[in-house]
Amino acid sequence: MCGIVGYIGDKNAYEIVINGLRRLEYRGYDSSGIALYNSELNVCKTKGKVEKLVKKAKKNISLEANIGIGHTRWATHGEPNNVNAHPLISNNGSLVIVHNGIIENYATIKNELIDKGYNFKSETDTEVLVNLIEYVQETENVKLGKAVQLALSQVVGAYAIAVFDKKKPDEIVVARLGSPLAIGIGESEMFIGSDVTPFLDFTRKVIYLDEGQVGVLRNHKETKFYEISNDSIISPNIETLELELSEIEKGGFDHFMLKEIHEQPKAIIDTLRGRLKLNKGIIKLSGIDNNLNKFTSANKITIIGCGTSWHAGLVGEYIFEKISRIPVEVEYASEFRYRDPIINPNDIVIAISQSGETADTLAAMKLAKEKGAFVFGICNVVGSSITRESNSGTYTHAGPEIGVASTKAFTTQITVLYLMALKIGKAKGIISNNVFNKYLAELNLIPEKIEKSLSFNNKIEEIADQIKDSTNCLYLGRGFNFPVALEGALKLKEISYIHAEGYPAAEMKHGPIALIDENMPTVVIATAKGHYEKVVSNIREIQSRKGKIIAIITEGDKDVKEIADYYIEIPETIESLTPLLTTIPLQLLSYHIAVKLGKNVDQPRNLAKSVTVE
Ligand code: AGP
Repeated sequence: MCGIVGYIGDKNAYEIVINGLRRLEYRGYDSSGIALYNSELNVCKTKGKVEKLVKKAKKNISLEANIGIGHTRWATHGEPNNVNAHPLISNNGSLVIVHNGIIENYATIKNELIDKGYNFKSETDTEVLVNLIEYVQETENVKLGKAVQLALSQVVGAYAIAVFDKKKPDEIVVARLGSPLAIGIGESEMFIGSDVTPFLDFTRKVIYLDEGQVGVLRNHKETKFYEISNDSIISPNIETLELELSEIEKGGFDHFMLKEIHEQPKAIIDTLRGRLKLNKGIIKLSGIDNNLNKFTSANKITIIGCGTSWHAGLVGEYIFEKISRIPVEVEYASEFRYRDPIINPNDIVIAISQSGETADTLAAMKLAKEKGAFVFGICNVVGSSITRESNSGTYTHAGPEIGVASTKAFTTQITVLYLMALKIGKAKGIISNNVFNKYLAELNLIPEKIEKSLSFNNKIEEIADQIKDSTNCLYLGRGFNFPVALEGALKLKEISYIHAEGYPAAEMKHGPIALIDENMPTVVIATAKGHYEKVVSNIREIQSRKGKIIAIITEGDKDVKEIADYYIEIPETIESLTPLLTTIPLQLLSYHIAVKLGKNVDQPRNLAKSVTVE
C-alpha cells in the first residue's frame, strides 16, 4: 500500500503535503515525491524516505504553492527508484498524478496508448493511468473530472488517486476503488489523504470517498462528487473525527501487529488480485508462466528461509508434495549456506523472505545460484536485495509489515506457494481440472473465512488471561498444521518471552510428554482434517497427566469440544488450506498474552524487523 496526500487552498501546500507524507510513511517508504504548482509545475521525487525528499526539494524546486499532491510509495509495479517514484506526469506535461493501488489491466492499456503514439518513462501502472486520462481528455475534449471518470470506467483494479492539470490549477480530482481515500473539509481549503492523519491538525470534518466515486475538489467550495459508473452527482456525508493521531496510524488498533493480523483478509485478496482468475479457471503468475517447464521438470525443490518464512516454507513442502508431486526439502538458510549442499542441474531453490534483506537467506541463494540452481524469490518488498538476486519470483502483496512479529507475511507467503503448486500440479497433470477448480474456489473463500476466525478475538483474549502466567507452553500439530504449531510457538516466544515449543503431535510421546503437568498448557491444532482421531488420543495422553488443553478445532466439532479445557473454532476448509485459518487464533493468542504481560508487542526486546546481519 502507498500513501497519497493533497492540498488546495490558501496555505503553503508544500508544508502540508510534506508533513502529511511523514504521517503516512507507515504505509510505505520505498520512494516519495511531491508536485506543486505556482505559475509552473514543480515536481520532485526520490528513492527513499520523505526526509530525503525534503532535502532534494529544498535544493531543486520552488516551495511556494497553494496546490500540491504527494506520495510515499510501497512498490508493487516497478522497483523503487526516481523514475518509478510518484508523482507521474502525462506525455503532454500537463497532468500530474499520485496513486495508491494496482491497475490490473495496465499492460493492455499501455499497448493501446503506445499504438497511439504515447511513450513511457517508468515501469509503473500509474503512468499508464495518467496517460489514459490525458488521452480521454484530449479526444473527448472534456474537463479533467469527466476525463478521470471516463478513464476509470475502462480500468480494472484498485486505486485511490489525486490528479491535477497545470492548465487549470484551481482543482484537484480524486477517485477511489478498493483503496482508501479521505477528504478533509476546511473553511476555504480541501485536504486529501490515504487516511486522515495528514490533515488532522487542520480540520476534523472529513468525507470518506466511497467505492467508485470521483471528487472535483476546489478551494472556493464548489466541490462536486460523482459516481464513476454513471456520472450522477452525489452528496457524500461529512463526518466529524474523534480519533487521535496515534490511533489512526494504527488504523484504530492498539498495535501495528494487531492491525496487520486484521489486514490478512485484504492482504490475501491483494495477493490473489490479478492472479486467481476464478471465472476463467486459471492462475496467472508471470514468474511461473515464464519458467513453467523448469518447474514441471524439476527433480527437487529446496525451500530456504528464516523464522516465520521458514515455517511458510514447511507448509509449502506439504502443499507442493501433495499437489504437484515434486520432492521438496526445506532448509534454514543459515544452515544451508554453510553445509556445502548438493545442488544438481534442474534443481530449483525457492527463497522466502518478507523483507527481502535477510542476510542468511541472501547468502544461501547466492550459493545456490553458484551451484547452478534456478532461484525463485517470494518477497514482500519490491526491488529488495533478494528479489534482485532471484532468477525470477512472485511478490506477496501484503503491504508494509511494521510489527516485528510476522503475521500477514506468513499467510500471503502460503497463498503464493499454493498458487504456484496448483499451477504446476495442473500443468503436470497431477490434478484434474475439477480438483484444480475446487481448490481455486476454496482459496477464493479464504479471506472471508479468516474474517470469521478473527471474530473469535474476544474468546481468545479470555483464554490468554488463563495461560498468560505460564513459563512454558507446548504447541502440537500434524501434517499441514505441524509448521503452524512451530509458527504459533515462535509468535508466543518472540513477543511475550514465554518459552514455547512446537512439535509434531505424534512426537510428544518421544520426550516432550515428560514436561506435561498442570502448569504446562498445550495448544493443539485438532482440525477435522489431518489425522483427527490420532490428535484426540494425543489430547487424552496430555490430560491424563493433568496438562491443560487449548484446542483449535473445526466449526461443528463435537468430540474435542467436550474434552478440551478451552477451544477456538475455525471455519471448515480443505485440509491443505487449513494453515491459513489455524494460524489466526495462534497469532491473536500470542498477541493478547503479550499485551496482558505489558510487553512491547511491535518492537520486542532483542529483535529487529529485518535481520540484515549474520
Ligand atoms: C517472525 O515473526 C520473525 N520476526 C522473524 O523470524 C522473521 O520471520 C525472520 O527474521 C525472517 O525475516 P524475512 O521474512 O524478512 O526474511
